[in-house]
Amino acid sequence: KIPSLYEKYKDHFFIGAAVNQDTIDSQQELLKKHFNSITAENEMKFEKLQPEEEKFTFAVADKLVSFAKENQKLVRGHTLVWHNQTPDWIFTNKNGSLADRKTVLERMNSHISTVVKRYKDSIYCWDVVNEVIADEGQNLLRESKWLEAIGEDFIDSAFEFAHQADPDALLFYNDYNESHPQKREKIYTLVKGLVDRDVPIHGVGLQAHWNLSGPSYDNIRQAIEKYATLGLQIQLTEMDVSVFDFDDRRKDLTEPTEDMKAIQAERYEGFFNIFREYSDVITGVTFWGAADDYTWLSDFPVKGRKNWPFVFDEKHQPKPSFWKIMQF
Ligand code: G3I
Repeated sequence: KIPSLYEKYKDHFFIGAAVNQDTIDSQQELLKKHFNSITAENEMKFEKLQPEEEKFTFAVADKLVSFAKENQKLVRGHTLVWHNQTPDWIFTNKNGSLADRKTVLERMNSHISTVVKRYKDSIYCWDVVNEVIADEGQNLLRESKWLEAIGEDFIDSAFEFAHQADPDALLFYNDYNESHPQKREKIYTLVKGLVDRDVPIHGVGLQAHWNLSGPSYDNIRQAIEKYATLGLQIQLTEMDVSVFDFDDRRKDLTEPTEDMKAIQAERYEGFFNIFREYSDVITGVTFWGAADDYTWLSDFPVKGRKNWPFVFDEKHQPKPSFWKIMQF
């Protein structure tokens, strides 16, 4: 008999999975048994919920939320303000010119307020702002239409609007390459500024898109420890462990090699050992999917290349990685 992953971790943190309109059906048995939280992979992003001004489309998001309710799962909301999957109308006037700061702020507020209020009783935490830190160079913030239209305080505003819409929701800043030392310092600086200005923020989301060789355990530890000094909670929000290093562009594998499977299991063991060690600050670990039959990594960074990043295989059976993280 296969023990439940989330039950095993219930005294440490919740175990989540990203779902979409297909996997919510095709993976439902696995989701019910092993995960006690879900995140919408795409279905709650701006372009999905409000593709045109004031034309909200909630059907798919509602379906995911109903699944969670029926099965007593938590829901993490993802995501309110991002540079990607965000429609152009927000930043544009009817005549095609660039909208001014006030208009864009109003549109941001209207979106956040409508969405957060709608799911007040079902979504307990939101990735309010996603990926605004610049990966390269000296700039703290990446260039984006939000930044251009509103200025640096678009981040503060997003958190304020979310807090006004639901004062009980836990509000997160979420980013990737979160364990890379330079980016870690920038994320820290951004979030420290929010905390010092009393902006309502309650957590830092570490996406954890990792692979067989990086990041190092040391870098992960240092990142967790640094973010923990902010006094906020920490969640791993989009975890997957690619069997390819980022520079490996091979396309010809039809299944992972024995080596890949063994190293992946070792890595998962190492990661979860660290998570358990810091379970006083870590409140959740969410995978960016549930099993190897579906992952966004099969289209990134090499289009159409299969990947096997999870602890359940394509048939939803436990992999060596699963057994490693169940051993404690
Ligand atoms: O829905 C259309 C479909 O109609 C069309 O036929 C198809 C053709 O390519 O595209 C579909 O849209 C795709 C969408 O996923 C839904 O599958 C987009 O092309 C594709 O770009 C989009 O990718 C998503 C990506 O965010 C967009 O940036 C991934 O599924 C999703 O996993 C990924 O998630 C992000 C997190 O939100 C933030 N952190 C990084 C993470 C991974 O990139």
